[in-house]
Amino acid sequence: MENIRVLILAAGKSTRMKSKHAKVLHRVGGTTLIDHVVRAARSVSSDVTLVVGHQAEKVRSLVPNVKFVEQTDQLGTGHAVLVAREAFAAYSGDVLVMPGDVPLIQSSTLETFMKFHREGGFRASVLTADVENPFGYGRIVRRNDNEVDSIVEHRDATPEIRQIPEINSGVFVFNTPILFEALSRLRTDNVQKEYYLTDVIGILVSQHAKVGAYKASNGAEILGINTRQELAAVDHIIRQRKCEALMADGVTIMDPRSTFIDLDVQIGADSVIYPSVQLQGSTIVGDDVTIHSFTRVTNSMIGARSTVLNGCVIVDSEVGEEASVGPWAHLRPGSILGQAVEIGSFVETKKSTFGAGTKAHHLAYLGDATIGKKVNIGAGVITCNYDGTMKHATHIEDGAFIGTDSQLIAPVRIGKDAYVAAGSSITEDVPAESLAIARGRQTVKEGWVKARKKK
Ligand code: UD1
Ligand code: CA
Repeated sequence: MENIRVLILAAGKSTRMKSKHAKVLHRVGGTTLIDHVVRAARSVSSDVTLVVGHQAEKVRSLVPNVKFVEQTDQLGTGHAVLVAREAFAAYSGDVLVMPGDVPLIQSSTLETFMKFHREGGFRASVLTADVENPFGYGRIVRRNDNEVDSIVEHRDATPEIRQIPEINSGVFVFNTPILFEALSRLRTDNVQKEYYLTDVIGILVSQHAKVGAYKASNGAEILGINTRQELAAVDHIIRQRKCEALMADGVTIMDPRSTFIDLDVQIGADSVIYPSVQLQGSTIVGDDVTIHSFTRVTNSMIGARSTVLNGCVIVDSEVGEEASVGPWAHLRPGSILGQAVEIGSFVETKKSTFGAGTKAHHLAYLGDATIGKKVNIGAGVITCNYDGTMKHATHIEDGAFIGTDSQLIAPVRIGKDAYVAAGSSITEDVPAESLAIARGRQTVKEGWVKARKKK
């Protein structure tokens, strides 16, 4: 493909979303609307410019490696392109203009559209589609010879024009100097009192310039997002696409409708995802992993052949191969589980490493701990890592056995193969291969109950 520059319009606020956030920062499929559009744009060009305005700083900080121009007042899509005039002054090639709110657009469609534009020798082309519910979109008005005549916004359209199912996607290719020349002729004599980019088409047609309209085969791809309802509908489509791609690659997803997998998540073959699972961010799941219902995994790795049982939350963590987590476990950031580690019900971990074969099966809190291999952590064990001011580390060496309901008051070290007796409050290091008992001795008062009754 020849060089082309891309201009994405992303300055609008989200009036119809009823939101304080810029529309393009709302999320579908686990990432922002603008990120979806920029990804598609990048697939056809390395030269991408964004028009930003509403929450400009935030948009700038979230979109790397693009150029920006600022539209301080949002006076319409035509005005948004106009503010880029200087940025495109020295450029005489084609520019692909895209709205920032069409996250379903596919790079293959953009490529076919650009090819249509070039092979047809057009000065301007618009990407269109027939859709079931064209409400709200600009309509493509064609002449008797089927060539495009103009684009009429829904709000400015007569009842007859509103019957037209062919809509403007908001995606255009223009010859750049011709675009800016036509933009200087825009007026705001419309319902919204805005400068409409869409009017450029009618202007060019009236000047007998060659204008093309390319109808995409898949109307759903060019859905724009103006409301929360559309946000949910498009989110659903993106997630279905993701599930379908994963299933095609050999992942079993029992109920794609209730499974929420973000765009960049990777899952190995023969893994099985039960209903109502969320896999988010940069999560990577290995082969032959089973993840049961109501679990959320965010930015984490799950090693091959592991099992995550129901109701777990795993964030910024790593689970080794053949490990088992849950049910109802919480792996907080920095939890690194080695091979075949078993973390059971109601266990919370944070910033801790677990060597191969280590087990903590029930009701424990393990934070700021370095735990060796084949360690057994009994039910109810707690690392007391916080003294109210500072966090302290706990070290548990290979093969140690921590009896149930013990507190390890950090900083403290339990040596290799050492035992901590159940119910101990450990405040001092325990040497290797020794037993530490740190609890009150039991006293038994025989006959105490009878004696009390007599009183
Ligand atoms: C626009 C089109 C409509 C088309 C639809 C496709 C116009 C006049 N109408 O309508 O024909 O069917 O998109 O989705 O172009 N923006 C700015 N600055 C502004 C105004 C808008 O940057 O001053 C940006 C918005 O952030 C958004 C995009 O341009 O990303 C489109 O604006 P929006 O208000 O959503 O236009 P629609 O009413 O959907
Ligand atoms: Ca829109």
